[in-house]
Amino acid sequence: MMTVGGTLRVPGDKSISHRALMLGAIASGDSRVRSILESADIQSTAGVLRALGVAVPTLSDDFVIRGVGRRGLRPSPTPLDCGNSGTSARLLAGIAAAQTFTSTFVGDDSLSRRPMRRVAGPLEQMGARVNLPEHGGLPMTVTGGPLRSIDYHSATSSAQVKSAILLAACVAGVPASVTEPQHSRDHTERMLFARGMHVHLELVGDGHRIHIPPVDQLHACDAAIPGDPSSAAFFAGLSAMADRGQIAMPGVCINPTRVGAFAVLSRMGATIEFHDHAEQGGEPVATVTAAPGRLMGTTVGGTEVPTLIDELPLIACVAARAHGETVITGAAELRVKESDRIATVVSNLRAIGVDAEELPDGLRVVGSDRPLRGRVVTRSDHRIAMAFGVLGAIPGNGIEVDDRDCVAVSYPSFWSHLESVVSR
Ligand code: S3P
Repeated sequence: MMTVGGTLRVPGDKSISHRALMLGAIASGDSRVRSILESADIQSTAGVLRALGVAVPTLSDDFVIRGVGRRGLRPSPTPLDCGNSGTSARLLAGIAAAQTFTSTFVGDDSLSRRPMRRVAGPLEQMGARVNLPEHGGLPMTVTGGPLRSIDYHSATSSAQVKSAILLAACVAGVPASVTEPQHSRDHTERMLFARGMHVHLELVGDGHRIHIPPVDQLHACDAAIPGDPSSAAFFAGLSAMADRGQIAMPGVCINPTRVGAFAVLSRMGATIEFHDHAEQGGEPVATVTAAPGRLMGTTVGGTEVPTLIDELPLIACVAARAHGETVITGAAELRVKESDRIATVVSNLRAIGVDAEELPDGLRVVGSDRPLRGRVVTRSDHRIAMAFGVLGAIPGNGIEVDDRDCVAVSYPSFWSHLESVVSR
């Protein structure tokens, strides 16, 4: 019997935290940042911005970043270390593309293997020079210069690609348009709008086209970072699999481009509700409550995928406890995340006794209520550690996670939060 309960303040949203630092750095004036995520990935962005000459204070719950303006960054004498963070490397490459100097981006083994051509391509079209190793990962050398405008049609729905282009255009003071096949997270657009930019949006099929005009400067803007729905999803998944109780998570970002996991969990039978709706820094927020239900398998695919791309490992783990089969398709992007998340999730589900198989662009999981036991190899992927950590909290399961510390990338207090909401 597992009971969940309590109120959990999940840490600040990772995507918005990165952007708050970057936009604060290139703005004219002071931006106050509250409730930023203090995790390894955000430290990577802060470290790179410091190396580029921005006085980013030690991260804390409330600090001020003094913007250096569009032209104020300085070349770094050392390579820019993005650690494990794809968002740091790709978005900061956009900013670097509009500088008059060369920057070299490096990262850990996982990040060094991840595809960078997707940002190099459009940035080169805009006029930057980008050098990549044969395998297309890091180190990436970006030599900026005067950029031209771009009208880019992105093959994948990647917020990182979209944001790299928008940031490059913004710093260079040129107009840009990006069309994406499906609607990816739109925090950059919302934050640029909040900083005085006229962001124009047009629906195109299942996706949309974003256009920004040239700007002379970006206004400084205070940011209060809402709770991360990707972090909240782990506790929604845990509640879904519990026998009784409810977890309440106040102040979670419920931006429509981010809430797919909550929709899928409720479709599977969990009780997920949004209360106390409010707005914070141009983002909708709410208290998310999650309670158990009789879980059924489901299918996930199509335009839903970008709205829960980071939560799919968790959904696959919840599916292991649902009745029937769950099939996830249209998610080939999972293969190029912090690990190949299709292979990592399936091999680990199998290792603990779940019937699961890889599909080229997704996976299939057959749920059961038998005890799940074994050792999970995270490949240092934070979301794998947390997804299996949630499954391991279910009484009767015995799951050992090989690298518990990798949660520091996005959710350093994950294990203590997990401990605090479960009673057996
Ligand atoms: C992110 C975008 C997504 C997501 C990543 C964060 C962002 O990546 O998976 O964790 O902050 O823009 P893609 O843009 O590659 O889909």
